[in-house]
Amino acid sequence: MTNINQRVVVELVERSYPIEIGSGIVADVAAALSRLQRVTKAMVISDENVATHYASVVDASLRQAGIEFSLLRVPAGEVSKSAANAEMLWRKMLDLGADRSTVVIALGGGVVGDLAGFVAATYARGIPFFQIPTTLLAQVDSSVGGKVGINLPGAKNMVGAFWQPIGVLIDIDVLTTLPIREYRAGLAEVVKYGMILDADFFQFLCDRVEPINTREPNVLAEIVACCCQLKADVVREDERELTGRRSVLNYGHTFCHAIEAATEYGAYLHGEAVAIGMLCASRLAERLGRIDADVTQLQEDLLNRLELPTKVPENLQSEDLLALMQRDKKVEHGKLRYVLPTRVGHVELVDDVQPSDALAAIEASR
Ligand code: NAD
Ligand code: GLY
Repeated sequence: MTNINQRVVVELVERSYPIEIGSGIVADVAAALSRLQRVTKAMVISDENVATHYASVVDASLRQAGIEFSLLRVPAGEVSKSAANAEMLWRKMLDLGADRSTVVIALGGGVVGDLAGFVAATYARGIPFFQIPTTLLAQVDSSVGGKVGINLPGAKNMVGAFWQPIGVLIDIDVLTTLPIREYRAGLAEVVKYGMILDADFFQFLCDRVEPINTREPNVLAEIVACCCQLKADVVREDERELTGRRSVLNYGHTFCHAIEAATEYGAYLHGEAVAIGMLCASRLAERLGRIDADVTQLQEDLLNRLELPTKVPENLQSEDLLALMQRDKKVEHGKLRYVLPTRVGHVELVDDVQPSDALAAIEASR
């Protein structure tokens, strides 16, 4: 039996859309689409792993509803977020007769969501796009808010757009097949929401580590709904990251991106590097007198209990990480902005940080 038990709306005037969250609901994708608009033709974009598990369920639903569709697969992994794949998909869609009323359905994690969204944003100057996120990271973060894009060699997410989906369908049950490391990486972003926006939610997580570690579906549905609501609120206030409000979502990400780049994206999953990055940012806030050490300790304890990495690896030089941070695309007018906590549940943007303090924060996180 399918069961929609949570609904969040991303309020963006004419671009508003619902996020439906439940168990087994991927089997009802056609009904979810028909609640949004008339759909006669769809392009389902997925990766090899996800398609193996879930393409047949989507297939059955669309077929039964009489929606003409094609399944377009890309290999699993970050390398698929490429200009070559975008072009391959544009060409296939052209061959298959996709037009402005065709809906692109992203069935997969953040890689598929970003790539399929970018293809939808650009094909025929933009066609409707629907998200079925299948990783925890995609369910709590990347499927919400409309950032879509691809990588250039050496520059992650360098080409992209803001292109909101017409709807998001989150099936908690798909998380059962997610590899454990990917699941835990998604939990780092969950902890991030508690730290940046909601102290009660942070406490909720601390109180439920056991059911989280065993992927208890009701707890997960509650967590995903809370994260989507928190992100929806931020996106509503600053859809295009112009006022700084949306930047709070980048807590830990300046240090994280440097760690990912220094390890050539091979040693850590994004969420794992976010976990380490949040602790670096928190220690920087300590150095600047913004928080006491116990705020960092609370995060470290929770991340440890969720079995996420918490230390900057010994083989990475602090100076090298700092140099990479200066090159981060979030440097504006030559200034690096940090997202730093003032307490659990609140962060601020700080742009007058001395490099020596950032270095010391990295050193203190080993
Ligand atoms: P991913 O899409 O690569 O998925 C991780 C792995 O899990 C892949 O091998 C995939 O095939 C597999 N997988 C996915 N769902 C599965 C399931 N239910 N069962 C079994 N296997 C499954 O990785 P991700 O962490 O979801 O996304 C990372 C990407 O998201 C990065 O490219 C990042 O830049 C992007 N991102 C975008 C935003 C945004 O706002 N657009 C935000 C955060 C991250
Ligand atoms: N993941 C950051 C954002 O969506 O803005």
